[in-house]
Amino acid sequence: MFTVSTADDMDRFGRVVARHLRAGDVVCLTGELGAGKTTLTRGVGAELDVRGTVTSPTFVIARTHPRTDAAPLVHVDAYRLTHASELEDLDLDWENSITVVEWGAGMLDAIVDEWLELVIDRSHSADDDVRTVTVHAHGPRGNELADSIGRAWS
Ligand SMILES: Nc1ncnc2c1ncn2[C@@H]1O[C@H](COP(=O)(O)OP(=O)(O)OP(=O)(O)O)[C@@H](O)[C@H]1O
Ligand SMILES: [Mg+2]
Repeated sequence: MFTVSTADDMDRFGRVVARHLRAGDVVCLTGELGAGKTTLTRGVGAELDVRGTVTSPTFVIARTHPRTDAAPLVHVDAYRLTHASELEDLDLDWENSITVVEWGAGMLDAIVDEWLELVIDRSHSADDDVRTVTVHAHGPRGNELADSIGRAWS
């Protein structure tokens, strides 16, 4: 479990995560409204030098951020989806993208075999800004990512 004390730190955490990601990787972000999922994703996007700004658009469920000569970042906000089949129906190119899914818990296992889940929690501290991030690995690639991110963030 990592402590992430400020929004800037969460951005930095996202950048550290991004350094280990490659095409085919899937990151699931779990945490209540306002936990910092999009803030983390913004850090991922910055580190990957993606085109376009990572935001929380109200009506867009999946946004592809292209990169020059590299796998795009696909940012999914599954908040309004109720079933894995709806996520599947988006026909995302999981294999050739780096995909970050907010609110993807409970849906991804129907679609991909391995992924990294980051659970953001604000209940561990009385300070409104402090978050904890817990890493859950799913499958071998999830384990690999969890190990390298754990080593990098200390
Ligand atoms: N330690 C922190 N980590 C992340 N965000 C923080 C932190 N401290 C304060 N914040 C603030 O909390 C808010 C987090 O919003 P953000 O949109 O990233 O959350 P979210 O989890 O994506 O929410 P939603 O479920 O609505 O998509 C931002 O305004 C950010 O500046
Ligand atoms: Mg969000």
